[in-house]
Amino acid sequence: MKPLLIHGGHIIDPGQGIDEAAGLLIEDGKISWLGKGEITPPPTDYDMLDASGLIVCPGFVDLHCHLRQPGFEERETIATGTRAAARGGFTTICCMPNTEPPLDNEAIIDYIKSTAASEGIVRVLPIGCISRGRKGEELTGMAELASAGAIAFSDDGEPALNSGLMRQAMDYSRTSGLPIIDHCEDTALSKGGQVNEGAISARLGLKGIPNAAEEIIVARDLALAQLTGGWLHVAHTTTEGSVDLIRRAREKGIKVTAEVTPHHLTLTEEAVTGYNTNAKVNPPLRTRQDIKALIQGLKENVIDIIATDHAPHTEADKQREFALAPFGISGFETALGSLMSLVHDRKLTLATLISRLTCEPARIIGNKYGKLGTLAIGAPADITIFDPAREWVVDTRTFASRGKNTPLEGSALKGRIMATIFQGKLVYRDDSVKLEAKRDTI
Ligand code: DOR
Repeated sequence: MKPLLIHGGHIIDPGQGIDEAAGLLIEDGKISWLGKGEITPPPTDYDMLDASGLIVCPGFVDLHCHLRQPGFEERETIATGTRAAARGGFTTICCMPNTEPPLDNEAIIDYIKSTAASEGIVRVLPIGCISRGRKGEELTGMAELASAGAIAFSDDGEPALNSGLMRQAMDYSRTSGLPIIDHCEDTALSKGGQVNEGAISARLGLKGIPNAAEEIIVARDLALAQLTGGWLHVAHTTTEGSVDLIRRAREKGIKVTAEVTPHHLTLTEEAVTGYNTNAKVNPPLRTRQDIKALIQGLKENVIDIIATDHAPHTEADKQREFALAPFGISGFETALGSLMSLVHDRKLTLATLISRLTCEPARIIGNKYGKLGTLAIGAPADITIFDPAREWVVDTRTFASRGKNTPLEGSALKGRIMATIFQGKLVYRDDSVKLEAKRDTI
């Protein structure tokens, strides 16, 4: 691979506190130079990418996505999901274990890793099940899953409702140092629910899911984290009450991290109006007041990261009547564009947004896979280049994902991924981004 010089762009690397116009050199798949002046010694045969007017930042890291393989390849595969991730600026993605069979034994973790190595185009890190078969009854061999490569544990899609089992999982978390990611949902309260419980559910005549269904399990999990000293990571946080619970737990020194999705930060329950099944997601889209609290939580670092919960489904499944359609939004390819509205509306700074997509999720994963979420010298050259001001209209026909299920179809977004580099290799490039070969010195 020839060295690649990215020049003319504005580099933002919140982990290193860099926010300035600068250039970047990639050699042998790693970042070898970052600076303003001339490179010494100068490379002689290299490619050049002009990033004028663009933001250059560490590749995005997604702690929560669904790749559907094995078992549901009509919805997504590792090949299509990683291509969609690359188009969305993600260079590391962590896949949830609700596949068929689920990721509850070493052989399936090995299968994910080898398929990702042969068919994927970005880094795929698997999340193992908490319980065998995701049935919530018996703990998986968590130590074996961890040594096979699981970076965390979750029964996502389902909550870990059995408190005794959750206690054991949290005990293991304390000894292993790996997080337990819970999908916090009291199913006795949410059963049959389709959308947020409130004005919209009443108007549409759909059963609602109250905020309390999430908050009850968040509160229980925090109590278990306190009891065991284990590490709780709250998946897809959606309510003001959950943000308050997590804030107070942090103040007490309980080991908890939390994520929020782009859709829960930018869309309200109104998106399901007209029985739009592409806005049907679990947990449901909430209210303006919840969104305000989630953004405040992100600003204060009570919510550590943004994770897509990319959940592709087939068009046939989403075309079913509302009650029968599955929950989930295809999120990789619209994540940046929708999140940039928070920056344009001055609700978040660009540096804060980038940190929640890069160094913060990388901190949760740790250093086992090299330095992620940073442009530090010697780190893998995982780089995202985007145009913060480019306007575009979402057209799911252009998606690399098999999941066309987004409520943003036809929406105008401002902020677009222009190029994604994984380990020094250009894995996605917008047509307008040109590479130029250079043979002289610079
Ligand atoms: O909306 C969702 N879809 N929420 C989940 O927790 C699971 C996911 C899926 O797997 O489709």
